[in-house]
Amino acid sequence: MAATTATAMGVGLGIPTTSVARTSKQVSANDKIIFGLIGCGGMGAANMRNFMGHADVEVGAICDVDSARMPADIKAIQDKYDRTPEIYSDYRKMLERKDLDAIIIGSPDHWHALNLIHACEAGKDIYCEKPISRNIVEANAMIRAKNHFERVVQVGTWQRSGQEFADAIAYIRSGKLGKITHCRAWIADGTKLGRTEPVAPPETMDYDMWIGPAEMVPYKSNCVHYNWRWMLNIGGGLTTDWGVHMMDIALLGMSADQDLVMPTEVSAYGGQWAFPDDDRDAPDSIEAIYRFADPDFVMTWSVLRDYPGKPSHGTEFVSVDGRTVRVWRGGWTILDPSGKELEKEGSEPVPTDHWRNFLDCVKTREKPRADLDSAGQTTIVCHLSNAALFSGETVKWSKDEMDIVGTAGKDTSAYDREYRGDWSLTKY
Ligand SMILES: NC(=O)c1ccc[n+]([C@@H]2O[C@H](COP(=O)([O-])OP(=O)(O)OC[C@H]3O[C@@H](n4cnc5c(N)ncnc54)[C@H](O)[C@@H]3O)[C@@H](O)[C@H]2O)c1
Repeated sequence: MAATTATAMGVGLGIPTTSVARTSKQVSANDKIIFGLIGCGGMGAANMRNFMGHADVEVGAICDVDSARMPADIKAIQDKYDRTPEIYSDYRKMLERKDLDAIIIGSPDHWHALNLIHACEAGKDIYCEKPISRNIVEANAMIRAKNHFERVVQVGTWQRSGQEFADAIAYIRSGKLGKITHCRAWIADGTKLGRTEPVAPPETMDYDMWIGPAEMVPYKSNCVHYNWRWMLNIGGGLTTDWGVHMMDIALLGMSADQDLVMPTEVSAYGGQWAFPDDDRDAPDSIEAIYRFADPDFVMTWSVLRDYPGKPSHGTEFVSVDGRTVRVWRGGWTILDPSGKELEKEGSEPVPTDHWRNFLDCVKTREKPRADLDSAGQTTIVCHLSNAALFSGETVKWSKDEMDIVGTAGKDTSAYDREYRGDWSLTKY
């Protein structure tokens, strides 16, 4: 499949260059950080509210392609700051605003690459939702743009700021569980979107701009807001939606720091077997097997309905003596081979405000806890499962090259795809 390449000249974005002028200004310790939000009504808005809880934050502008998604966010800003934010439907116009220091990207996954690269070009720091991208080529382009423009980018993998995850990761890294040969991560997926007929998009929505660089498909009310994560044109199913959280913890535990171990090869099996008569097209049943070298271990990723005796999502590390560390949202535990809970010791308390960490890094220019390079590595690990599943082949990966080795997996949308119309991806 042809790469979505444009020349790396800071232009070639399919938009006027004036709309992405470099406007970065240095934010000092006492300054307020002024935000713009791309994508209202969902996680982007939740992030905005988390930032608004900090005294050194203001929200100057918000943007959505569906005006019906905006009223609650406008009201929240009015209530907090006693003024109305500037309202946009085209994020490129919002990025022209020189007073905005930072951008929250809360759009669906297929928009993240363009939103982020354009925000980097405009000199903004960015809080970008996970998974960082819709495919591997986009992920690499985003990381290059961030480093080229020296932007601070925090990814919304907030589990990295969770005490239970910090405790489990610290325990694994301390060596107290011993040598680890297996990691497991899983999510239960019981979502059916049902069947609907295509209809005209609502008048509030610029559907062409919602589809953006993806393939134009008829509007269906059950396949857009929130539900797009089960539509492969827009998202990557729960492998990217939740894998990027749960496999992230396995990778962090098996790595010394944010620079993550990555697999050398991946195989995956599954399909849309549980809910075939449904408008969703993301696979609902998946077992992916990743092989790692240095250290040698395997990781499995499961999308299924049930995990008896366990939470509906989680991550496990298994040692050679049969002890297991299990961690999920809300707790962690150490188990002996019979399943008996063993005594555990936590790490030091960690600062658990993922959003404060970003604000501090905007001021210090340090790397945030979920820096794009690192969260990008996890995102790519997720895409590799889809590349293996969609191609039916074992996909080989080179961390040195940050690319698939050979051709297996490259001819899938998890690796790359053509952008629609004038949209194009700049590779710095
Ligand atoms: N970190 C987490 O725990 C977490 C939780 C949920 C969602 N997310 C992530 O947050 C992102 C958003 O997910 P969601 O569930 O809130 O989706 P959503 O569909 O509920 O909201 C996305 C909004 O973006 C808008 N949008 C689409 N294209 C746009 C564009 N070009 N410009 C401006 N706005 C645009 C949509 O109209 C919609 O209002 C996704 O990447 C998702 O994976 C993260």
